[in-house]
Amino acid sequence: MLVADGALGHCFAVDFTTPTSEPTGSQRRPIREGLGFFGRFLRNPTTVGAVLPSSRYLSRALVGRLDLAPGELVVEYGPGTGPATAAVRAVLPKGSHYLGIELEPRFHKLLTERFPTMQFHLGSAGDLRTILAERGLPRPARILSGLPFASLPSAVQDQVIDGIVWALRGTDGDFRTFQYVHAYGLRAARRFRALMQERFSGFERIGPVVRNVPPAFVLRYWGAK
Ligand SMILES: C[S@@+](CC[C@H](N)C(=O)[O-])C[C@H]1O[C@@H](n2cnc3c(N)ncnc32)[C@H](O)[C@@H]1O
Repeated sequence: MLVADGALGHCFAVDFTTPTSEPTGSQRRPIREGLGFFGRFLRNPTTVGAVLPSSRYLSRALVGRLDLAPGELVVEYGPGTGPATAAVRAVLPKGSHYLGIELEPRFHKLLTERFPTMQFHLGSAGDLRTILAERGLPRPARILSGLPFASLPSAVQDQVIDGIVWALRGTDGDFRTFQYVHAYGLRAARRFRALMQERFSGFERIGPVVRNVPPAFVLRYWGAK
């Protein structure tokens, strides 16, 4: 089944490729991460906002081409267990920088272990400006987001959007996120898109990416006002 393929490809692919042998340590990792992610969802359903990590198909669609010059920065909000981070690492141009901002301490710890050469901040995406100042980093040229906007409180949505607009205003940088197809019509999801439409002149919707559980659209915004 097409939809299930996507998630299984990301989370459990090793079970199908090595059915008769014990999984190795690195093969067990996606399974452990999928279970760990689900556990975090049960504890914090509103901030985690998904039952499974994104598939590699959705992650690649989100990351796309980064087109960063040396010294430029890409920021990822809510990397979770790191599927989009892995896609970023695969295309991050030499000399450019990455910062992941993750609220959940367990995910933050896992990310620092899984991606030892990349930087991760434990805290809220709503504090972008302060975090960059503390770390001496420039405004980002790209912001990628795995935040569950449809389930975040309005005050957090507003704070995050203000930070994105501050970072991208007057540049040709862009912001990319995804929204699940089944939640696309929910009030909080519509509210988020309406606010973004007011504050950005450019918008495109890609997908749906069906090889993900659940299927999702990728949204891209540019031209911050
Ligand atoms: C839907 S999960 C996505 C995880 C991962 N990007 C993926 O696609 O599999 C949302 C992630 O956002 C994180 N998160 C929620 N609110 C946040 C905030 N205010 N700042 C930073 N991360 C946040 C959660 O802890 C979780 O890791």
